[in-house]
Amino acid sequence: MLLDRPESAPGVGVITLHRPEALNALNRELMTEVVDAATALDRDPGIGAIVITGSDRAFAAGADIKQMQPQTYPQTYVDDLFGDWDRLASLRTPLIAAVAGHALGGGCELAMLCDLLIAADTAVFGQPEIKLGVIPGIGGSQRLTRAIGKAKAMDLILTGRPMKVDEADRAGLVSRVVPAADLLEETLRIAATIAGYSHPVTAMAKEAVNRAFETTLAEGIRFERRVFHAVFATADQKEGMAAFTEKRRPDFTHS
Ligand code: CAA
Repeated sequence: MLLDRPESAPGVGVITLHRPEALNALNRELMTEVVDAATALDRDPGIGAIVITGSDRAFAAGADIKQMQPQTYPQTYVDDLFGDWDRLASLRTPLIAAVAGHALGGGCELAMLCDLLIAADTAVFGQPEIKLGVIPGIGGSQRLTRAIGKAKAMDLILTGRPMKVDEADRAGLVSRVVPAADLLEETLRIAATIAGYSHPVTAMAKEAVNRAFETTLAEGIRFERRVFHAVFATADQKEGMAAFTEKRRPDFTHS
């Protein structure tokens, strides 16, 4: 894994999956590194968006099959295999997946666990676990179904077929599709835009959207209203609205 804070994208931390010999297969070590790095970035007040990316060839070709093959049920249960990824999903800072090439199995699940999914025109998604005699294990059966509906989720999970980016875009899996050559630059631009807004308020916006997956409409709207009222306790609400009135750019202090 590589960690970067590019000067061209202030407030953005970039985590690059880097196991080229295994198409970025997500073994235990890589999972720990990524989750720890993202958690540290999340706690850094200077960071307002986190990008997770891979290589041109693969975002990640899944969990590491060679590491999983000899595992037993008691081991997987006691170690809570893949449970650490839940820590990533609970971070406050917006997470953006920049996906080129294979995003399969755990790779597709990691991308879906992010808040925005920017896809290169080379991206291929899928949950091929069924071909290995297993099922998705990092939330694929749930997040894919919520993202693209039962009909397509069942098709992908039961047949294990890959889905190219056009179909993924039509199905609503991805936020934007960009030419492969521009993937990182475009994603950094989007990430820097988000990181330039009030960090507490972007975190609240993320929490409000995510609440839609966990609750009824009436409860979700009640939650949104409470959070909306709470933003009036921030200096950034005063600044954002003053800047609009005064026809200038806001200077958010993330407070
Ligand atoms: N785990 C471990 N190693 C992997 C891997 C994985 N998921 N995916 C690829 N690799 C390794 C290959 O074994 C190969 O290593 P060697 O050179 O040592 O043989 C190397 O990466 C390059 O892969 P290929 O030679 O297979 O490359 P390709 O271009 O011919 O094929 C591919 C690419 C279609 C992605 C193919 O590698 C593939 O099918 N990979 C497995 C995809 C998969 O089944 N993912 C789901 C894993 S299970 C899971 O993720 C469970 C879960 O939900 C958490």
